[in-house]
Amino acid sequence: MTPVTGPGATVLDAPAPAAAAAGHVLHTGELHYSLTDPALTSMTLLSEIAVRHPDALSFAAGLPFEGHYETSALPRYLETYTRHLSQERGLTPEQVTRTLFQYGPTKGIINDLLARHLMIDEGLTVDPDAIVVTSGCQEAMILVLRALRRDARDVVFAAAPTYVGFTGASRLVDMTVRQVRETAHGLDPDDLEAQIRMARADGLNPRACYVIPDFANPSGATMPVDVRRRLLRIAEEEGILLLEDNPYSMFHDGGGTRPPTIKSLDAAGRVVYFGSFSKTAFPGARIGYVVADQRIAEGGRFADQLVKIKSMLTLNTSTLAQAAIGGLLIEHGCSTEQASARAAEVYRRNGRALLDGLQERFGGPDSRVRWNTPTGGMFVVLTVPFRADEAALQRSARDFGVLWTPMYHFYAGAGGLNQLRLSFSVLTPEEIGVGLDRLAAFVAQRTA
Ligand SMILES: Cc1ncc(COP(=O)(O)O)c(C=O)c1O
Repeated sequence: MTPVTGPGATVLDAPAPAAAAAGHVLHTGELHYSLTDPALTSMTLLSEIAVRHPDALSFAAGLPFEGHYETSALPRYLETYTRHLSQERGLTPEQVTRTLFQYGPTKGIINDLLARHLMIDEGLTVDPDAIVVTSGCQEAMILVLRALRRDARDVVFAAAPTYVGFTGASRLVDMTVRQVRETAHGLDPDDLEAQIRMARADGLNPRACYVIPDFANPSGATMPVDVRRRLLRIAEEEGILLLEDNPYSMFHDGGGTRPPTIKSLDAAGRVVYFGSFSKTAFPGARIGYVVADQRIAEGGRFADQLVKIKSMLTLNTSTLAQAAIGGLLIEHGCSTEQASARAAEVYRRNGRALLDGLQERFGGPDSRVRWNTPTGGMFVVLTVPFRADEAALQRSARDFGVLWTPMYHFYAGAGGLNQLRLSFSVLTPEEIGVGLDRLAAFVAQRTA
């Protein structure tokens, strides 16, 4: 094809991208500031490195294990849900058809099943009408942040490090996020109090604190019950909400009991609870939800306000995707613990393989490599005596064939420069062994 060199070039000569390039040019400076924020670009950067090194073993991807997915289960889930509509809910064939094919109610169509799941798995009594089903938990975060953000003085708090999806969602709605120190027991309540005081002194309005109490992404930390209770007291005293995000609690190591969700300890209605089926079912469905049962003085509940925002964002969450997750829930007695039992076993096995493997390779008395020992989830954090940034990751991928995630992405640029996150969800124990050998060679070269 003739290269396009000037205005004389004909449309036929021009490949589409070149034609587009000759048109109006936009500068990122003319676009929303979030588009150049590392919170939004970091994941693309990491995927690019992964694409360039397809043979590298990856401790980077935070994806769920896919060995149990079955295409044949999808039509069955839809049939199970359809039967539920006609037999349990008494819908006529026309109503069933409309439920699946038409625009749906903005709040969702599987709220009854979600309420049952929350009762069975979390001991929570929730009115189905206080739940909004969303396109992944990601949309739920955006709805809540949009609703809470009135003006530039509003601020939310999150642990450093925290999930980039939350930081990114905050950027999209211009919500300021202030960082709170994290300990081995999750977000530090003492520092939260201090940060709230400082924010007030700066003329800001503290609105909420985002927490991932179980096997947090990225730190793997779990909050003991007393920390959960303390956060609730702080929320009441300071007049803020707690935004509890719980995608990983089902993946505990099997020993002992699971700590209660903060929502289930919350007598004062301070907790807005985010749920996701990406890890307990499958992320292709893009089904999450938010429980927003706080009363609104003028009438209704917080969920009714979120629905107004959702009606302008996505109208309703795909009814087909809800039906698939609904069918999956029904087939597992509405228990995500049951639905994800096989995946949880894989994560337990892999977690043990990773921690044992780290001990074998880095456990010597003179080792300058340290790591935490989460009791579940999908992530371990390694601390190394060198800068673990993108340049280091490039070298690790190119010269040693192993990928990981630089932790500083999760600190919004203020920490984590010598830490890396190792995800163990999609590898086999054998691959974990090979990956750790490669990682050990990389670390040895960097510390020689
Ligand atoms: C803490 C946390 N919250 C939410 C999500 C995303 O949830 P969803 O896929 O439902 O949008 C993730 C995904 O990795 C996560 O780690």
